[in-house]
Amino acid sequence: MKKRFIGVGFLAAVGLMMALGGAGMSIAEDKVISRSEQWAEKYPHQYKSWKKTSENDEISDMIKKKPQLAILWAGYGFAKDYNAPRGHFYALQSNINSLRTGAPVGPATGPMPTACWSCKSTDVPRIVAEQSELEYFTGKWAKYGNEMVNPIGCANCHDSETGDPAISSAYLVRGLEAAGLKSTNIDGEDMRTLGCAQCHSEYYFKATEWTDKDGNKKVAKVVTFPWDNGLSAEDMETYYDDIGFKDWTHKISKAPMLKAQHPGYEIFQSGIHAKSGVTCADCHMPLIKEGDETYSSHHLVSPLDDMENICLDCHDQDVEELRAVVERKFERKEQLMEIAMNSLAKAHLEAGKAWEAGASEAEMEEILTDIRHAQWRWDYAIASHGSYFHAPEETLRLLALANETAQEARLKLVKVLAKHGAADFVAPDFSTKEKAQALAGVDLEKLVAEKLEFKATLLEEWTASAIEKGKLDPDARKGMSNKTSYSK
Ligand code: HEC
Ligand code: HEC
Ligand code: HEC
Ligand code: HEC
Repeated sequence: MKKRFIGVGFLAAVGLMMALGGAGMSIAEDKVISRSEQWAEKYPHQYKSWKKTSENDEISDMIKKKPQLAILWAGYGFAKDYNAPRGHFYALQSNINSLRTGAPVGPATGPMPTACWSCKSTDVPRIVAEQSELEYFTGKWAKYGNEMVNPIGCANCHDSETGDPAISSAYLVRGLEAAGLKSTNIDGEDMRTLGCAQCHSEYYFKATEWTDKDGNKKVAKVVTFPWDNGLSAEDMETYYDDIGFKDWTHKISKAPMLKAQHPGYEIFQSGIHAKSGVTCADCHMPLIKEGDETYSSHHLVSPLDDMENICLDCHDQDVEELRAVVERKFERKEQLMEIAMNSLAKAHLEAGKAWEAGASEAEMEEILTDIRHAQWRWDYAIASHGSYFHAPEETLRLLALANETAQEARLKLVKVLAKHGAADFVAPDFSTKEKAQALAGVDLEKLVAEKLEFKATLLEEWTASAIEKGKLDPDARKGMSNKTSYSK
């Protein structure tokens, strides 16, 4: 739904950005202006509203709220630390503070690959422009610790030269191509949804061999959207099954698991707003009038904070009525989600018991596939936190399917457990974060101690180095909260 038009020149911008994806191509460093404060003078309103995304200092510890998560993700980073999303200004800090990114001690130490910076920083398109996309995707997360210093900002969605809206992630363009969707001549109107799809989408890291200009053979972990069969949960499940991909092996059940990232763009497509041509920006970037000027709010938050200005632009109910409708959607999702998560957690624990009791691979194979599929469907449905509103029917359908598939696994497990003399097994209590993380084998104290050591040492070096090289203006971080899920 078009509300306004921003300008021309976007064709050149997309051409330039697409060239970034090609190996060997590189453009001058200053072509990508990664420090958002350097855009402020020319675009004061957009800058000021973007900066407001720094005002949210709430940390909502999801594992505390939903302890089942630690069981569902046992053996995977998310079981350690997982918080509800915050403003774009905090994306980089959230990534660095997360126990998932661990405590590297030098540029080549793990656990995560460089790809983990991808949706967090304007320095990603800058480094891709300077070094090539494949070089960026090669190596460990810590390789770029002193480069990734500016959070999501202007250069993620705008061309630094013209200022026009532009895609900065070549992998989105490749994903759109694979899905047979419009992938060229992306204009400002398209960017109102595709700008967000760069990051609010499902992806995996595809191992890709390549040779650098000095003839060295390298392996890149390239962010790839699994869209070849389409955007639905089933389409992507088939894609992953066909290539035999798994994100990890579950620590308790040994199932070959998939982690849905945040298929927000994809699930949104199935909802009535997308079908009616409403874009992400229509609700998340309302027009603000200030004196004679009108601009798009770049304070990307929940539209429920400003329903008067956003929803009533198109709807004629009163705000309270509409809010009650949205709240009821949320409650329905919560109810089915709890049921599905409990079934999944029990399925993992019962499968763990079956192995312990002596079950064979042959007895377990079908059960583990059920668990894989059930959890994928649950995760696809809820991993993007707005899905209950963006696509309520699809969310509830997938949660029902997740529960049904998990229960099928559990029915099969009853037989296997009985055969191996463990018929009366009852899954242990996982009703608190502490209990669930203990079952998942997460040693939180150790992880936190290592992280604090990293923050006091290597992280300080990264920051000092970035300031010295002029990549970071320390003033840009003034007043920033530094809360974490593990702060005392
Ligand atoms: C460069 C990647 C990137 C792009 C582009 C992007 N997002 Fe985000 N978005 C994120 C990340 C990462 C977070 C979570 C940040 C955190 O918790 O630290 C987030 C969080 C959010 C939140 C939660 C904010 C809050 O305070 O709860 C909203 C809403 C949001 N994004 C909407 C959008 C919309 C709409 C667009 C397109 C106009 C968009 N995003 C484009 C990466 C991106
Ligand atoms: C997450 C993506 C995203 C980020 C980050 C972002 N923009 Fe935008 N911006 C958009 C979209 C989408 C539009 C609307 C495009 C349209 O409707 O043609 C827009 C519109 C604009 C416009 C046109 C006038 C208006 O207000 O609609 C300007 C100027 C602008 N942005 C500047 C900035 C600046 C400066 C920053 C950094 C402080 C920034 N943007 C960060 C996505 C983004
Ligand atoms: C740009 C226009 C636009 C905006 C902004 C918008 N809507 Fe809608 N909404 C629509 C259209 C079009 C439909 C499809 C139904 C129809 O044709 O009457 C719809 C349908 C709905 C429905 C019924 C379908 C369902 O999913 O249950 C609800 C509820 C709803 N909108 C709530 C909201 C809320 C809440 C907001 C603000 C956060 C909002 N809308 C913002 C255009 C809009
Ligand atoms: C019709 C209005 C509407 C449209 C269009 C829309 N959203 Fe939302 N979005 C909402 C509402 C309402 C919420 C629920 C916020 C809440 O529960 O506080 C939400 C929630 C979110 C959240 C989670 C915020 C949080 O803090 O948990 C993200 C991220 C998000 N939307 C991104 C997007 C993206 C990306 C698109 C386009 C693909 C999009 N939205 C399209 C209305 C909309």
